[in-house]
Amino acid sequence: MSKKIFAANWKLNKTPEEAREFVIKFKNDVFKTPDFFKGKEVILFPSAFSLEAVSSLCAGTAIGFGPQNIHSEKSGAFTGENSAEVAQSMKAQYALVGHSERREIFKEQDELLDKKNALLQVLGLNPVFCIGESLAQREAGKTLEICFAQMDKGLKSFDKSQRLILAYEPVWAIGTGKVATPEQVAEVHRELHQYLTKNAFKNFQILYGGSVKPENSKELLAIPHVDGFLIGGAALQVESFIKICTI
Ligand code: PGA
Repeated sequence: MSKKIFAANWKLNKTPEEAREFVIKFKNDVFKTPDFFKGKEVILFPSAFSLEAVSSLCAGTAIGFGPQNIHSEKSGAFTGENSAEVAQSMKAQYALVGHSERREIFKEQDELLDKKNALLQVLGLNPVFCIGESLAQREAGKTLEICFAQMDKGLKSFDKSQRLILAYEPVWAIGTGKVATPEQVAEVHRELHQYLTKNAFKNFQILYGGSVKPENSKELLAIPHVDGFLIGGAALQVESFIKICTI
């Protein structure tokens, strides 16, 4: 059975100093528990300015990390963007792609996300590719249609023999406190699993994201095909993040 993944998306929070404090405290707390990392993968997604701070404390340890976004080209005249190649040189192993805030606020389109996923694969980084429907789309009964279309387009160039980490995050559940019901999560994860299997993806895991907290994480993790979480608000404090990671 593959490991459960616990990924912290810090969004635009934490200075490098605060990121360092988090990692030091996290390490102090978890290294007291023998086998804490057994059966799980822990990933931190700091903001770009704090990536170096996280890298300096996590590179070569059991704690994975990566940027929240990368540009679709490796380097060049793209003022203000972040390079996947630079993240790779900082020993990042993962990168978020297509978070709903990137899609909604920064108008990132599926075709661009496909390029980003492909670039990460070329560089040997694991994309954590985010998909999910809005409230209006769910109410219109279009949840699966939207998720399948986001995968069709955003993973068009994806080398299916390589690892994919997919994060299903219903947009209406992100940062709202409105977690999807276990039945809703179970249905979508079952369908996503079927889709990926049918489409010949060889090695994939499906995370759930959207208002995951210590109070609901156990129930959600017990749902078939929920291979872990992408966690925003509740991953900002060491205590609540560790509670979620403790399985
Ligand atoms: P949330 O964010 O846990 O605060 O809902 C999740 C995310 O945006 O990835």
